[in-house]
Amino acid sequence: MSEKNSKQFGSKVGLVAATVGSAVGLGNIWRFPAEAQSNGGAAFLLLYVICILVLGIPVMLAEFSLGRAGRSDAYGVFRKLAPGKKWWMIGVLGIVASYAITCFYSVVTGWTLEYLVQSITGGLYDGIPAVSPGGDFSVADAGFQAKMTQYISTPWTPLIFTWLVLLVNMLVLARGVQKGIEKLSNILMPMLFVVLVALCCVTLTLPGAGAGVEWFLSPDFSKITASTVINAMGQTFFSLSLGMGTLITYAAYYPSDTKLASTSGIVSMMSVIVALLMGFVIFPAVSSFGLDGHSLVGTTLVFQTLPEVFACLPGTQIWSILFFTLLFAAALTSTVSIIEVTLAFIQNRFKLPRIKATVLTILPLFALSALCSLSFSSMSEVKIFGLTFFDLFDVLATNVLLPVGAIFICIYLGWCAPKNLLKDQLTNGGTIRSHIAGVVLFIIRWVAPALIFTVLVAPLFK
Ligand code: PHE
Repeated sequence: MSEKNSKQFGSKVGLVAATVGSAVGLGNIWRFPAEAQSNGGAAFLLLYVICILVLGIPVMLAEFSLGRAGRSDAYGVFRKLAPGKKWWMIGVLGIVASYAITCFYSVVTGWTLEYLVQSITGGLYDGIPAVSPGGDFSVADAGFQAKMTQYISTPWTPLIFTWLVLLVNMLVLARGVQKGIEKLSNILMPMLFVVLVALCCVTLTLPGAGAGVEWFLSPDFSKITASTVINAMGQTFFSLSLGMGTLITYAAYYPSDTKLASTSGIVSMMSVIVALLMGFVIFPAVSSFGLDGHSLVGTTLVFQTLPEVFACLPGTQIWSILFFTLLFAAALTSTVSIIEVTLAFIQNRFKLPRIKATVLTILPLFALSALCSLSFSSMSEVKIFGLTFFDLFDVLATNVLLPVGAIFICIYLGWCAPKNLLKDQLTNGGTIRSHIAGVVLFIIRWVAPALIFTVLVAPLFK
């Protein structure tokens, strides 16, 4: 196979699977239900869908177009399209963001792997009393909380699992685009959907599940405030992998006849469907077991509340294994895409063979991710600007670098890129029709930068 072909996705299904694999991750499964719970259920869902339509899809199309037109990494694309100008700095920003995200994302992925292993060995459910639906959960609650502390807040085990995640990434990424990324996504993505639907079928048939569904689907508009809107926008960027060049990098591997508009539609829809299915797993289970109002925030939702639910179901271990496999699969295909941003850059820039570039990219991450992993144990007191390393990397990347990156991507494509670049890409050089090019360009020029700027500065006025 020629070098050119091996640097492209081999099939349409494969490229969609890989891009969906990047988008669907901890953001949809771990973050979305918690956000929905504290931001008015369906009202948040509705806002999220609106943000995807007005902001997510156009910015995604901008990244796709830049990547396929420049056919390089996030830095190389700007070097090629805007020679002699400073726009390559957008790429550098993306590479820094991707590195920062990998550091904390691989830690949480490590937790999912640890939970998967503990589900397989049964250790997660050892010594936890079974509670029947509606019963007193306080003992089980304390039990799972203690397990979480044990799994997350000790120094060595979570660190080893984080390193394992990096090692798996190394093995996948070293194999290249088609044999590594594409193959992994082709296997894991369909599996993820099957497991998610199966889990949904179980939770939806639990006694009392209806109340949870009703809560999730009846929007509480009174909960919508400026900060809800901002959260929905943040969720859109994170869950669609926008703003740091991931999709620029992936689109460089798209064949020239790939239809960008429909690809962005499918990827966004999948992201919404997974978030929706997750809502249908969590909220019915929570209402059925009378866990409403329990510690449903952030981390605890999937690492504490769901094991509690599984403990009450027949076949506890099987459900637990299935769920944590799903979570691990979703997280892994996302980490692969985040690391590829830097890897592609290093490989192109220094003209290195794939394997060398992979090792060089991932090695420093062993040290940097350790800082994030240890933020929950021996380094919990080490703070910069009042934040642990984990929080610092999370806040810096998600709240600052991603939106800043997205603004510059929009400004470059909307105002400074070669004229017709977007239209050419959306119509595959005039061979297919596109009805949306005009609207997308308008959004990229005016709407997106203004809205994203609002998201960026709003927290300063809280
Ligand atoms: N989209 C991924 C998720 O939802 C996270 C991610 C962010 C991946 C940015 C790549 C780039 O979990």
